[in-house]
Amino acid sequence: MKPNFLYLLVTFLVTVIVLRTLLFSEANQAPTVTAPAEKVVLRHVLPVITDYPVVKCVENTSTQNFPDFDGQPQNMKDFLTYRHCKSFPLILDSPMKCNRVNGSNDVFLLLAIKTAPENYDRREAIRKTWGEEKSYGGAKVKLIFLSGVSRNKEKAKRMMQLLEAESHTYGDILQWDFEDTFYNLTLKQVLFHKWMDLRCPGAQFIFNGDDDVFVNAVNVITYLRGLEFDGLQKHLFVGALNIGMPPVREKYSKYYVPEQLFPGDYYAPYCGGGGILMSGFTGNAISRESARIPLFPIDDAYLGMCLKKAGLSPDNHEGIRTFGINMPNAVDSFDPCYYRDMLMVHRFIPYEMLIMWKALKFTTPNCKTQIVNRTKPAQP
Ligand SMILES: *[C@@H]1O[C@H](CO)[C@@H](O)[C@H](O)[C@H]1NC(C)=O
Ligand SMILES: *[C@@H]1O[C@H](CO)[C@@H](O)[C@H](O)[C@H]1NC(C)=O
Ligand SMILES: *[C@@H]1O[C@H](CO)[C@@H](O)[C@H](O)[C@H]1NC(C)=O
Ligand SMILES: *[C@@H]1O[C@H](CO)[C@@H](O)[C@H](O)[C@H]1NC(C)=O
Repeated sequence: MKPNFLYLLVTFLVTVIVLRTLLFSEANQAPTVTAPAEKVVLRHVLPVITDYPVVKCVENTSTQNFPDFDGQPQNMKDFLTYRHCKSFPLILDSPMKCNRVNGSNDVFLLLAIKTAPENYDRREAIRKTWGEEKSYGGAKVKLIFLSGVSRNKEKAKRMMQLLEAESHTYGDILQWDFEDTFYNLTLKQVLFHKWMDLRCPGAQFIFNGDDDVFVNAVNVITYLRGLEFDGLQKHLFVGALNIGMPPVREKYSKYYVPEQLFPGDYYAPYCGGGGILMSGFTGNAISRESARIPLFPIDDAYLGMCLKKAGLSPDNHEGIRTFGINMPNAVDSFDPCYYRDMLMVHRFIPYEMLIMWKALKFTTPNCKTQIVNRTKPAQP
């Protein structure tokens, strides 16, 4: 009797233990499966920014205080309504672009190109030609594209997928969560300088330009090296200089600025936004001043205001042509000789970039006459 009872008890206990173990291990199964799954997911998670102070942008409800607000074009109304918003989250980041903060001292030149989300072909052309990330005899060049979000919601969704894919492949996209419009270009510029402070403070020089410019990278490096100074210690801001430029008052113009916003007759001297070369020192000064100067709809004129406030001045460089080169008639405007001595020329479409890059790189142009002055270091 007794052994039988014991046998039953033992069997019962064993069954309970086995069942419990089975149940327990089943309960445990979820984590053991999700662990590797989480790893897989992580590879596709794009860097999320947490170290930027992000304030949700609330529209200005007292815009009626702006004289003749209702008479302004819609884009100017949008500008005035959101002018105070200077902080937007990054949707796509490139935190390792400059090899962390300490590694960024190795970056000689950072190419920071303003681009609209849909301009995929321009970005590709730049990556394949003058924007290639490489070292020019020890001078390390890095490339980054600056973008916002398309205004149209449907388009924005599609374009975000495009930029995400590009970011995944090349790691060269910065995308902020604001509408990528003309009057928001200043916002793009200011956020770029903030990003520099955080991710790439050691870069010596910055080329800041549009995605439809052709840059003779070799000439740019030669010019910057010829300056023989530490970009983190000295001021440099060169491009196509505008002095005494009056604000455009015609409402239909892309560059329209109402008198109520800027009563002056002339902007402070500034360089055309198509292409500007600046030192890390000056980029830093702009970042500092922009915190104190309200946003302005014209981005390059805004940079002039920042420089003025910092007590720095922009300079002209013969080799930077934001309005293209004026060719004599009956001359092939595609003659590489015209571009041999240039640092940067505006208005190139993607296939032209490719042709010109090859022409400059693989043929030694037998140029007889000198069309433009050779690029000499401008004395800042
Ligand atoms: C809102 O707009 C009015 C009129 O332009 C301006 O005076 C005011 O400073 C703006 N408020 C903020 C918070 O920017
Ligand atoms: C970067 O450099 C600073 C100062 O030289 C040092 O304190 C810091 O630990 C460095 N950070 C990393 C991640 O190496
Ligand atoms: C700038 O972007 C903000 C945020 O997306 C938007 O609300 C605003 O309308 C834009 N401003 C202009 C002038 O397009
Ligand atoms: C070249 O430079 C000289 C002297 O600096 C100047 O007088 C001349 O106008 C320049 N030529 C062109 C084509 O810019």
